[in-house]
Amino acid sequence: MKNAFKPLFAALFAFGVGFGTVPSASAADAANDALVARGAYLAKAGDCVACHSAPRGKPLAGGLPMTTPLGAIYTTNITPDPDTGIGRYTEEDFTRAVREGVAKDGHNLYPAMPYPSYAKINDEDMHALYMYFMHGVTPVKQANRESDIKWPLNMRWPLKLWNVVFLDKGVYQNKPAKDVAWNRGAYLIQGLGHCGSCHTPRGIAFQEKGLDESNNAYLTGGVLDNWFASNLTGEHNTGLGRWSEQDVAVFLKTGANPHASAFGSMTSVINNSTQNLSDADIAAMALYLKSLPASGGNGGPQYSYDPKATKVSLTRPAATDSGARVYTAFCMHCHGVDGRGFAPMLAPLAGNPNVLEKDASSLINVTLNGTEDLVIHGIPAPYPMPRYAPVLNDQQIADVLTFVRGAWNNNTAAVQPEDVAKIRKATQAAR
Ligand code: HEC
Ligand code: HEC
Ligand code: HEC
Repeated sequence: MKNAFKPLFAALFAFGVGFGTVPSASAADAANDALVARGAYLAKAGDCVACHSAPRGKPLAGGLPMTTPLGAIYTTNITPDPDTGIGRYTEEDFTRAVREGVAKDGHNLYPAMPYPSYAKINDEDMHALYMYFMHGVTPVKQANRESDIKWPLNMRWPLKLWNVVFLDKGVYQNKPAKDVAWNRGAYLIQGLGHCGSCHTPRGIAFQEKGLDESNNAYLTGGVLDNWFASNLTGEHNTGLGRWSEQDVAVFLKTGANPHASAFGSMTSVINNSTQNLSDADIAAMALYLKSLPASGGNGGPQYSYDPKATKVSLTRPAATDSGARVYTAFCMHCHGVDGRGFAPMLAPLAGNPNVLEKDASSLINVTLNGTEDLVIHGIPAPYPMPRYAPVLNDQQIADVLTFVRGAWNNNTAAVQPEDVAKIRKATQAAR
């Protein structure tokens, strides 16, 4: 993840019990290794590396800037180096930092660290994570960087009040009415996966509007860092209503399916986190997501594909529609006359949930800036979306996206050149 926008407030050794004898060193080591390996897996599910590593920096040594309206803050070194990292953290210190957002020395962390989600991680998993961070991560000596936020806005005590109001300290509790897989999926999505930190809209104090399915704003989509993270409820047009559980699973494993391909801040989630999870865990996450009733959406009638009118305007590109002209010249060879792309390599635009979403931030951003490569099992995507910022002006991008949002029965509102200008400016500043 590059430079994620985070608003201000968003801005032991119990192995080898033995059988009446002292366990051998090797049995103890094996149990220990298994625990460290389990912690490594959980760290992937939590995507700790995406935020706690700077571009081209050492993994987990921190230093990634996260921009806020008041200035950048930097992620910290969470390797076990005793002086600059978390080597002196006891398990209790670590648990408090991860669940409650309080560092060893007592200062409150900005909720750019997703502790409101991690609060749901259970004790057993927290223990495995701690073992991994202490024994499975190579220590790196690299001092933390002070935030660029100036006094008095850099004072952290208001975060204590924020926590009183918004932090729900409870570890995830299984719902007895639901089966094991549903509960496993809910636990991973709400907790370690912290999917809501991007996919749930934020309220007035930048808190996520809901931390689980009991709130109907939960996972209905939100903007962070100039990307709109899609609606993940069962909503027909903009959500996962037309996706099967299998479609969701394939997307999380490979970053693409017949409906869409990953781009923007989702790319790093797939590159670093979900592609590494077991099939059983991915299936559980898909099952949980597909259980969420429709919520949010664009208010339009249920989408169904209709290429007719669009085909006509595209086969006569000299026509009056300037958006159709840009589309024919720059986009059609990849996304197709029929808007269906060539899934899963080239994303369809017809009926694509992100295209149908009211908020066009993601569409503007991906057209301006393309996207970071999706890398599955070490292999980068063959035809990534190009960057058009140097080629097309704000009006042309607004025109082509307005065309795309109207074509193939997409029927979604026009995009304004001012909106393109805003995102161009914000994303260029971040480069
Ligand atoms: C979305 C970004 C993000 C993710 C994901 C994330 N962190 Fe953090 N983390 C941060 C930021 C930002 C800070 C520093 C906040 C501050 O300075 O107020 C932080 C601070 C911490 C600290 C306090 C360290 C110190 O020196 O004060 C610990 C411990 C920590 N994170 C552990 C983890 C673990 C373990 C994971 C994965 C399970 C994780 N983080 C995932 C953003 C993230
Ligand atoms: C750092 C922000 C971020 C996090 C964390 C995140 N996502 Fe996303 N996600 C996005 C963005 C932005 C999009 C829209 C772009 C795209 O479709 O890839 C997206 C898209 C998706 C889509 C495709 C939806 C569609 O209609 O195209 C799925 C499914 C998804 N995310 C699932 C998840 C799950 C499950 C998690 C937690 C394990 C998660 N995401 C965590 C940012 C995020
Ligand atoms: C070289 C092939 C190529 C060209 C040309 C191209 N795209 Fe893309 N586009 C992609 C790919 C591939 C993706 C999926 C994201 C990725 O993997 O980079 C994508 C994704 C998108 C998305 C997000 C769709 C989703 O999955 O939700 C939009 C919107 C988009 N393109 C619009 C355009 C527009 C507008 C143009 C012309 C100005 C264009 N593209 C030209 C390959 C292309």
